[in-house]
Amino acid sequence: MFALSLIAAGLTAASTVTAFPAANLARDAAVGPWCDGLGAGAFDDVSHVTLAALNTTLPNANSTGTPLVLATGGAFAGIEIRRFGTWASFGANDYPSFSLVNGTIVLNDGPKPARAVQVQDASELSFVTSTNGSPINPLDGAQIYCGVANPDPTGYATLAVNGDADSFSICRETYQQVVIYKAAADRNEACYPVKLQIIPSN
Ligand SMILES: *[C@@H]1O[C@H](CO)[C@@H](O)[C@H](O)[C@H]1NC(C)=O
Ligand SMILES: *[C@@H]1O[C@H](CO)[C@@H](O)[C@H](O)[C@H]1NC(C)=O
Ligand SMILES: *[C@@H]1O[C@H](CO)[C@@H](O)[C@H](O)[C@H]1NC(C)=O
Repeated sequence: MFALSLIAAGLTAASTVTAFPAANLARDAAVGPWCDGLGAGAFDDVSHVTLAALNTTLPNANSTGTPLVLATGGAFAGIEIRRFGTWASFGANDYPSFSLVNGTIVLNDGPKPARAVQVQDASELSFVTSTNGSPINPLDGAQIYCGVANPDPTGYATLAVNGDADSFSICRETYQQVVIYKAAADRNEACYPVKLQIIPSN
């Protein structure tokens, strides 16, 4: 029963993707420079999706990948950081989906508005929220994200940052497993390489 329902879930996911035009059709609307070099099917607008991390060197439990959520990354003067990490290590999911809007990521339906920040090498994919009442406009986020179409029409599109979809890892940071862009080579023992699959959400 359990195995059957997993298979059913997989089939549903695959057929959703086939019917997911943003992921698989070349767009006639112009995409921004944050999609430069990412192919004809690159897109910088898509509504209500989530991410799952698929190992590129290690075995995977399935073809979807391990679900990602917005883990907490610490609080500083007036702001709190959120960053993509695995659901398995963080154990909560208070931003159930996000949308890609003109090259930035807008987190949907969470406790507070969040704004994407620039992503440097060896750092997390981060967002800031306000803890002192100063307003945060998600649409003012860094315009650095782009979706890359999958040449296999039954496969998932992937996320790129800074024009690069091939440099993500999951790394251990205290008890969390978080996404790192261009992880430093000396952290290899704490990290494994992944691609970030864009999964349609309801
Ligand atoms: C990827 O590999 C890691 C480390 O072995 C494992 O914990 C994780 O579950 C794997 N991911 C998937 C989607 O199977
Ligand atoms: C895929 O495997 C991961 C473990 O790596 C699990 O958390 C996730 O629920 C699985 N997804 C599906 C669709 O079976
Ligand atoms: C997308 O972002 C660019 C650059 O910031 C801006 O010029 C343009 O007006 C934006 N497009 C939309 C539809 O918001």
